[in-house]
Amino acid sequence: MTMERGLPDDKTVRTALALAVRAPSVHNTQPWRWRIGDRTIHLYADLSRHLESTDPDRRDLMLSCGAALHHLRVGLAALGWSTAVHRLPDPSQPDHVASVEVSRHTPTDEDIALAAAISRRRSDRRRYSSWPVPNAHIRAISDAAAREGVLVYQTDGPARATIEDAVFAASQVHANEPEYLTELAIWTGRNVSADGVPAKNAPVPGSSDPSYTRQFAAGTLADPVSTDESAGELLVFGTSSDDPMSQLRAGEAMSAALLTATAAGLAACPLTEPLEVSHLRTIVRTDVLDDNGFPQMILRVGWAPIAAGPLPETPRRPLDEVIDPFDRAPATADRA
Ligand SMILES: Cc1cc2nc3c(=O)[nH]c(=O)nc-3n(C[C@H](O)[C@H](O)[C@H](O)COP(=O)(O)O)c2cc1C
Repeated sequence: MTMERGLPDDKTVRTALALAVRAPSVHNTQPWRWRIGDRTIHLYADLSRHLESTDPDRRDLMLSCGAALHHLRVGLAALGWSTAVHRLPDPSQPDHVASVEVSRHTPTDEDIALAAAISRRRSDRRRYSSWPVPNAHIRAISDAAAREGVLVYQTDGPARATIEDAVFAASQVHANEPEYLTELAIWTGRNVSADGVPAKNAPVPGSSDPSYTRQFAAGTLADPVSTDESAGELLVFGTSSDDPMSQLRAGEAMSAALLTATAAGLAACPLTEPLEVSHLRTIVRTDVLDDNGFPQMILRVGWAPIAAGPLPETPRRPLDEVIDPFDRAPATADRA
């Protein structure tokens, strides 16, 4: 790709991909691969990184790929490239998640603000302060998700209690599933690794409120001493269908919501554990979404307490490990 042909140069593509891989992913598995074609960047799901016990429906995997796809779109937009995305372009290749064509544009202030939020975003699993999240922020988050075709349900009263109960119930179910616990032990509480959830980003086991967060292995993250609140909003992301396309769109919406929240100075964390247990997902669908759609993920969002320090950045695999080696190969029909 060269500038002369009106396409981004190598450095621009790698910069955009470096932003894309900052996307959140379930257990930081980073289940994606990239191929750079002549005019198109391709995203593939890396099924070797699928968490079979934690994520039997592959929903978290598709959500993670959707988040990476949206991060790529945001990165390219800020670098001066708009995108035309073809999602799941080849039914015979379900792991081909998207192909992204680019064309020149002038970045907007919003493009730049969202891209700047990428490197500041963290999954914050600590308690949140009791300060209310202003409605304008909730609206901005919901609008960002709606632009990706996803509805956000703000929960309070009985609906919120349903989510809290489901988070707790899911942790009880998972606590008795050896295969789930094995994946948790393999992928979380790590110290030196390019993937997985680092110990320093995971709460000390038993310290966090089990109604609000997944219990990770061997965490060392402490809550700020002065905090006993566990407030914030619980937002449920719903789609009208329940296929891989919907999950992908929900992942893009999750990314849009997270970056919007981060840009507003809010703390946030995706929460999918209750939706990984089939009967609990049905309860959320019936009691929170009134059977109107399918819950794909839950977002906890709020203000970090004043005493909470910054969270460390989580690691990512080097770009060369996730870009397929035939990068720059002569274009063929299926790689164009
Ligand atoms: C689909 C999906 C599901 C997730 N589920 C949870 C969860 O249930 N609990 C949690 O604490 N974090 C969850 N996360 C957050 C990831 O663990 C986190 O994104 C990853 O470790 C990388 O860290 P970072 O977000 O700080 O960059 C989820 C992320 C994604 C994309």
